[in-house]
Amino acid sequence: MSWLNALVQGLWIIIPAYVANGAAPVFGGKRRMDFGREFRGNDLLGGGKTWEGFFFAIAAGVFIGLVQIAVWPYMNEVAAGVGYTIPRMTVLTASLLALAAMSGDLIASFFKRRFGAERGSSIPLVDQLDFLIVSLPVALALSEITYLSVLFLILVTPPVHYAFNLLAYHLGIKEVPW
Ligand code: CTP
Ligand code: MG
Repeated sequence: MSWLNALVQGLWIIIPAYVANGAAPVFGGKRRMDFGREFRGNDLLGGGKTWEGFFFAIAAGVFIGLVQIAVWPYMNEVAAGVGYTIPRMTVLTASLLALAAMSGDLIASFFKRRFGAERGSSIPLVDQLDFLIVSLPVALALSEITYLSVLFLILVTPPVHYAFNLLAYHLGIKEVPW
């Protein structure tokens, strides 16, 4: 399989995780997931993790997965024209990828707080890759993508994430550009 097809396959499969992660700041609300609780002298998760953001982000990831399932026959036909294949998306894969993305994001915030990093503070690479920590193992287990796709995703996600966050920042959706 060509490396370009591996990249395309990885990007296709990871879409529900990308969309969930990107949707969180749009839907982020007030009900803190840590209920304002502290742990060892700092916020448990911080004000950036809300139930509204968590659930609506997952819903957005599932929704885009349904769109992917609907357009798959067309996408795969176009891809076949250049000798590529597009892996199938399933409702289970999309749902678990969205859940995994938001869980990885929570895990990162938990550890950021333990290291005393305030909400919204920047930790390069961790902020860009946190949602992939759990999503990539899920993608490997539930789809046809290979380790080559996973490697590409780790490489392309930080710049893609940064570009989208810069845009969201200028649109007023995010408070900080990371
Ligand atoms: N968000 C949310 N609920 C979540 C995840 C994200 O409401 N479970 C929203 C919040 O408005 C958050 C924004 O999405 O500010 C961006 O998410 P993220 O960058 O992960 O949060 P930060 O505010 O940067 O906080 P942290 O330092 O914990 O990463
Ligand atoms: Mg952040």
